[in-house]
Amino acid sequence: MIKVTNLHKAFTVKDGKTKAKKRIEAVRGISFQVNPGEIYGLLGPNGAGKSTTLRMIATLMQPDQGNIEVCGLDTQKEGEKVRGKLGYLSTDMNVYERFTPRELLRLFGEFQGVDPTIAERRGIYLLEKLQLMDFSDVKMDGLSSGQKQKVSIARALLHDPKVVIFDEPTTGLDVLTAKTVLDLLRVMKSEGRTVIVSTHVMPLVDEICDRVGIIFDGELYGDAPPREILGRYSVRTLDEVFFQLAAGGVR
Ligand SMILES: Nc1ncnc2c1ncn2[C@@H]1O[C@H](COP(=O)(O)OP(=O)(O)O)[C@@H](O)[C@H]1O
Ligand SMILES: [Mg+2]
Repeated sequence: MIKVTNLHKAFTVKDGKTKAKKRIEAVRGISFQVNPGEIYGLLGPNGAGKSTTLRMIATLMQPDQGNIEVCGLDTQKEGEKVRGKLGYLSTDMNVYERFTPRELLRLFGEFQGVDPTIAERRGIYLLEKLQLMDFSDVKMDGLSSGQKQKVSIARALLHDPKVVIFDEPTTGLDVLTAKTVLDLLRVMKSEGRTVIVSTHVMPLVDEICDRVGIIFDGELYGDAPPREILGRYSVRTLDEVFFQLAAGGVR
């Protein structure tokens, strides 16, 4: 279970031209809850505050204000325990060009303190689900960007996390590869895991998310099943909700 309450995060950045300091309120009072067996979609355009929110849940960044619980643990007090329960996929492409997927998974299994036999078995299971077995012994610099993304996904799930947080998992993937990733998320759901997936590519969400929250300029709108949101904003697609928010319409 994930419970986020009144989360705030601001950054101070220097203006490139004037050198004046500027405050960016990236996340402004976001609250939501995701239950086991549920896929929650965090949708929003670039710069909306999705990654900042997910980084705070993943304990990689401290909130300025607010509270986050993961499986009943306070992320700000019990970061290490939380990290053991959480599989996080970031948008930064981590490339380990000189490793093969199998070697990389073995290494990460060790980092995570997973028993080597169990890590091996789970690694093979994930590579099979992601249709990567044929490439399991190919050095990563010989893989396509979609294949590298799938290796990152396998890595995030290797320690069998109860909570899965995927930041833009399908961005830049072709439709077939994206489908493989979405199918795996459905499996995660059916296994009773708690899943959050962020995206700025709407069609993904109708398909797999039980509920979505629309994040715009650091605030959350919606927090309901996709159909309900369409009804509430009287639109046919979730993209149109963005257009309304951007135009300063119904909020
Ligand atoms: N480490 C950081 N330092 C300064 N500004 C940041 C940092 N991380 C994010 N931001 C800013 O916060 C806002 C939200 O960013 P982000 O959460 O990455 O949005 P999204 O993932 O929805 O595209 C943006 O204006 C971004 O430039
Ligand atoms: Mg982002």
